[in-house]
Amino acid sequence: MTNPQENPRPRALSGMRPTGKLHLGNYVGALQSWVRLQDSYDCFFFVADWHALTTDYDNTARLADNSLEVVLDFLAAGLDPEKCAIFVQSHVKQHAELHLLFSMITPLGWLERVPTYKEQQQEMPNKDLHMYGFLGYPLLQAADILIYRPGFVPVGADQDVHVELTREVARRFNQFYKLEGKPILPEPQTLLTPTPKLLGTDKRKMSKSYGNSILLGDEAAVVEQKIKGSVTDRPKLTDRGNPSQCPVGNLHQIFSDHERLAYITQGCTQASITCVECKALAVESVNAHLAPIRERRRELAQNPARLRETILHGAQKATVAAEETMAAVREAVGLLRLGAVEELTEKEESTATLRVPEAVKAARTEEEKWDIRVAAWWEQVNKVHPLRKDRRGIFITRKGRKVGVHAAEEKRDGWNFEFENRPVNVIVLLAEDKDGYLHPYVLPPKFLQEHWKFGGVGDRWVRKINGVAILAVGTENVSIQEYEGNYSPLQ
Ligand code: TRP
Ligand code: SF4
Repeated sequence: MTNPQENPRPRALSGMRPTGKLHLGNYVGALQSWVRLQDSYDCFFFVADWHALTTDYDNTARLADNSLEVVLDFLAAGLDPEKCAIFVQSHVKQHAELHLLFSMITPLGWLERVPTYKEQQQEMPNKDLHMYGFLGYPLLQAADILIYRPGFVPVGADQDVHVELTREVARRFNQFYKLEGKPILPEPQTLLTPTPKLLGTDKRKMSKSYGNSILLGDEAAVVEQKIKGSVTDRPKLTDRGNPSQCPVGNLHQIFSDHERLAYITQGCTQASITCVECKALAVESVNAHLAPIRERRRELAQNPARLRETILHGAQKATVAAEETMAAVREAVGLLRLGAVEELTEKEESTATLRVPEAVKAARTEEEKWDIRVAAWWEQVNKVHPLRKDRRGIFITRKGRKVGVHAAEEKRDGWNFEFENRPVNVIVLLAEDKDGYLHPYVLPPKFLQEHWKFGGVGDRWVRKINGVAILAVGTENVSIQEYEGNYSPLQ
């Protein structure tokens, strides 16, 4: 988890479908709020490209370009990649993994009852939306959100039902799965972003598919032309109008200052100004607001490195955060960790106790016993790290390390290993216990440097205290348990 002292800002996450270049509706309905949030929240903003596939699965020709355009608009609008993670959903596979796990516990009814499910199907009668992915899209959104465990989800009112579903999914997940008895997916809050009304140039809702949009990246002359060509609320000069029902009036409400808004509102409702004048003022207000955005967009277009860095860095930052959650999720669900499988073999090595061959009992000299114990151990080590033995009974590793091997059997108070004063890089103690098992302790060079002083003999014992092997080195007592069966120094 992020250290709260390091990062006191609450986390917020939101996403947007890559519908292509963003229009002013997207801007005032979402992006503008995001820009304001980035200073006070730890923000994650992403391009929901998988979501685009839930409805546009049959036409993906522009999907990649659209994703780039949207990131470009994010940056142009003022999102700062230093302050927030900006990324593309499909670059963070963990979203898909969590979605799959959620799909196991989410009742179909919950999804069928999401109002946007039926609504969108009705809105797009020409599109076959009887698709598994389309039904599951709010669940994918739940995964998008919960994978970052944010406190807040800044969205417009239309998305509130999805955040509500997200909370229900979190609750259900937490009921089924816990980590150390604790729930792991906090329920996020909707941070309602204001969505001022903004009609398209034809007086219908501003929408990409209607072709009635002013784009965030439109040149000043294009903005002018679109506004001047807009359908207004006053068909005749003598008609009184209502700025709230006029695309041009809407623009004033969003982009003009109080004074200008008061002026055109009065003039419109009293029919005392012309729409031509009103439009000219709107062009001025909108272009004044868009100028710095346009300028940033131009700079970015000339410097694709910044776009590249933003997307790569964003993917990395998001992946780290998502993987943190997924590690906890996988464990809570009870899946077999790949790491645990790797540890399986490490553990085998690390508890590499060996049965001592029966032949030890028949051996008559200490030297014979040594030979038998060491041979059994040698066979095991060779499977991991081949060792050869020199004439003087010292083993040599592949990297040329000298290994002194010592064997002893358990007496009343432990093992008494005898050492000769020979320089070695690694010491192996083969401690045979009373049950006939051999415990190999491999004391690496580091250990020798820190604890071992060659020369003295007779004060080096391994004692067992509460089952833990303690090595007495001179006056220091050192637990050597962690060196049991660690064969890596034998490389
Ligand atoms: N469904 C949202 C929309 O259509 C986009 C979205 C996808 C989203 N995942 C999200 C929004 C997660 C907020 C959080 O606008
Ligand atoms: Fe629209 Fe302005 Fe004309 Fe009123 S005066 S109808 S707000 S353009």
